Amino acid sequence: MDNNSSDLQIYLGRQLALVEEALDRFLPIATIRPDRLHESMRYSVLGGGKRIRPILMLAACEAVGGDVRHALPAACAVEMIHAYSLIHDDLPAMDNDDLRRGRPTNHKVYGEATAILAGDGLLTEAFVLLSRSDVMQGVSADDRMAIIHLLATHAGTRGMVGGQMVDMDVEGTSIDLPMLEYIHTHKTGALIKAAVEIGGIIGGAAQEQRDALQRYAAAAGLAFQIADDILDVTAITAKLGKRTGSDQQRGKATYPALLGLAESRERARELNEVAINALLIFGQEAQPLRAIARYIIERSY
Ligand code: IPE
Ligand code: IPE
Ligand code: MG
Ligand code: MG
Ligand code: MG
Repeated sequence: MDNNSSDLQIYLGRQLALVEEALDRFLPIATIRPDRLHESMRYSVLGGGKRIRPILMLAACEAVGGDVRHALPAACAVEMIHAYSLIHDDLPAMDNDDLRRGRPTNHKVYGEATAILAGDGLLTEAFVLLSRSDVMQGVSADDRMAIIHLLATHAGTRGMVGGQMVDMDVEGTSIDLPMLEYIHTHKTGALIKAAVEIGGIIGGAAQEQRDALQRYAAAAGLAFQIADDILDVTAITAKLGKRTGSDQQRGKATYPALLGLAESRERARELNEVAINALLIFGQEAQPLRAIARYIIERSY
């Protein structure tokens, strides 16, 4: 892969197709009881999305010389957890959004009870996948256990759920930068970190490589949420697929609200550099990871 955006688009498209096919295969089929619940899970997981977390996992696996096919089930597990987090994030009790990925949110289509259960179902299904030796081919039992532990801690109250809790708690108040950084590194950074680290584990990363991937993911994960905050201010709803301006409306703690747009963009650029520099021990095989880091801050949706 060269360092240009058309190469990246081709790469992302190819990886996205791999992930979509696998997601469709791993999700419970909609005709099995409880069919409406399975249908609503499929509605949220299969209805678009950039698939950045699974693609990062595959890219991390590739960077350490692993076989990306071995990482596909775990990549799907992370995307299921992400989809669950979005379903719950959109609920009236949380961000109360009615548009996601250009379509009505899960609770708008299926009702709140089903949306809550669809989230619960996706979260648990992710761990069903990871615990299955027949599905996780090429991954040792020890590595499977390490992956389950890593994903559970990063998705739970020490990670994503913790970030979401504080995000809700501070709505409408003003907070300082360290608190904002806690929210962003947890609600969004944690799952991105888990995705990259799991890719490294499945690819058989050496300790030095794992450390590098960790530093890369910490920076890219925070940058991802800063970019999300910026897009809420600068993008248009039709392009973003979710209602823009909603952060300000709800009094959300965001980088643009605290630092302004220019400073937020600068911070994202700095983090991009940190992410790229973390990959210095790698050669060409980490080119997708480098390109994705840039994409994270330059994306338009
Ligand atoms: C949106 O995530 C929520 C955040 C954690 C910022 P994405 O921007 O990855 O959403 P999709 O999956 O592409 O729709
Ligand atoms: C969501 O952050 C983070 C998680 C879902 C864990 P946001 O609330 O900013 O995400 P969007 O903007 O609704 O996608
Ligand atoms: Mg939110
Ligand atoms: Mg939201
Ligand atoms: Mg947002």
